[in-house]
Amino acid sequence: MKKFIISILTGILAFTLSSFALTREEIEKNPILKGKMLAKRCSWCHDIRKTIVAPPFKVILERYRDVPEETLKKQFFEAIKNGSKGKWHNWLKNHVQTKLGRGDVMYMPPQKPYYTDEEIKLIINWLLTLKK
Ligand code: HEC
Repeated sequence: MKKFIISILTGILAFTLSSFALTREEIEKNPILKGKMLAKRCSWCHDIRKTIVAPPFKVILERYRDVPEETLKKQFFEAIKNGSKGKWHNWLKNHVQTKLGRGDVMYMPPQKPYYTDEEIKLIINWLLTLKK
């Protein structure tokens, strides 16, 4: 009986591990999933819907909904690579309260120390899938 249980547990474990392996492989093959994984770092400040200390991605996409996708890709690339300051001044002032004072002092630091240009593009492609 004990052996039987152990073999079942081993089976479950092997299955779980293989499904993890599959997921990683899937991530490598799927550029959108890869972009999503890379964007984990952004979640220090951005959530998709909730306000942490930066505008949620849905709010950003809503603001620029009439901007053509190619223009938006360039704009986001610049903001992510080299940082952004002032564009969200009023929004931050009304929605974010930091310990140091009002949220309008918040800015986005350049992310280029953490990502290659290719990786930034993958993140942007994922980001644009959040558009309704
Ligand atoms: C330390 C906090 C922080 C991190 C980390 C961060 N951001 Fe930001 N982000 C901000 C703030 C604050 C703003 C508003 C900047 C402004 O007012 O111009 C912003 C603005 C933006 C914008 C809007 C730019 C525009 O043109 O209006 C985009 C897109 C964006 N962030 C994407 C990202 C992505 C993708 C990542 C991860 C690779 C990221 N951010 C990481 C704080 C952060």
